[in-house]
Amino acid sequence: MNFVNKTLSELESRGLKRALRIHSGKLINFSTNDYLGLSTHPVVVNRSVEAVKLFGTGSGGSRLMAGNLPLHEELESRLALLTGMEAALVYGSGFLANTGVLTALAGRNDTIFSDRLNHASIVDGAITSRSRVHRYRHCDVQHLSDLLKKRTGTGRKIIVTESVFSMDGDIAPVREIFELSRREGCILVVDEAHATGVFGHGGGICREKGVLPDIVTGTLSKALGSYGGFASCSSKTRDFLVNKSRSFVYSTGLPPASAGAALGALQVIESRKESGSELVRHAAFFRESLKQAGFSTGNSASQIVPVIVRDTSATVSLSHSLENRGILAVAIRPPTVPEGSARLRFSVTLGHQLETLQNTADKMRELKWN
Ligand SMILES: Cc1ncc(COP(=O)(O)O)c(C=O)c1O
Repeated sequence: MNFVNKTLSELESRGLKRALRIHSGKLINFSTNDYLGLSTHPVVVNRSVEAVKLFGTGSGGSRLMAGNLPLHEELESRLALLTGMEAALVYGSGFLANTGVLTALAGRNDTIFSDRLNHASIVDGAITSRSRVHRYRHCDVQHLSDLLKKRTGTGRKIIVTESVFSMDGDIAPVREIFELSRREGCILVVDEAHATGVFGHGGGICREKGVLPDIVTGTLSKALGSYGGFASCSSKTRDFLVNKSRSFVYSTGLPPASAGAALGALQVIESRKESGSELVRHAAFFRESLKQAGFSTGNSASQIVPVIVRDTSATVSLSHSLENRGILAVAIRPPTVPEGSARLRFSVTLGHQLETLQNTADKMRELKWN
């Protein structure tokens, strides 16, 4: 397997080799997606433990076999309510939700229109579906509309976008995209992975903006502090996914611990409806402090705040210097982001006090001038 060594040396020489690291928990963590700190919340932990005691550690099989637990159905009803849709279907992860939804919706004769910066799970779902894929410029509704007009063929047309983009923290113009999708007879799928639990009192950006796509996908593993994914949609579409979504049909149901934790998280979010907007306000404060220190945070408008450095090795070295000062903000490099747009990705969480955010921006300022 010579190619293994060759690939690794090539990545090393370009400063792009990644390695797994164990995080000690001693650093101030700006790289977690546990935005509301729910993974350690007592209600969430207790619901998870209770679920294990009642149902065991594994669900025992695919949901269509014997793995369908009352917990799954309860979680789906709660997710449907949260996202303002008729029904929901839980998957093994957010990645599986996106690949499962797209491969069920689209086939050889169909066309998927995908934002150029969409997550790898959307990219892989679109490729696996064997449909034609057109990538439109990031958040560019005019470009999307031009591509739709140029399309030939009679198959289904599916538009797919994230709502809050994972590496830029900016927000898609979901209303304009929704209106275009209705005019052009397209199916609209919106991935709310980073918006669930944070925007729209927890329901996401579409909920906040009163937009009802055909399918909303999301994850239980970020603001909900658990693990797993979901798709919210109409009851009929849920039935369709139960029959046609391969990552649902041919994969084991979510473990009770994760389903229980997600139910606990939804209970906490329900009782603290303003947590998400507080988080977004704190992130705005942090962005402002970074801008005053002379950094570019792109078009971020959420709890995800990138500091765009561009050069890969400069980004890695800035991340190391921060770590030496007790702060964890991981460098994001190509191919996760386009060439020439390496960045530090800060996730602001409710665990960061305003003072910590100000101190972090001050440390960044010091590093800029060293
Ligand atoms: C936009 C987006 N969609 C989907 C996923 C996948 O979610 P999960 O981690 O639950 O597989 C992620 C997570 O990295 C993401 O950022």
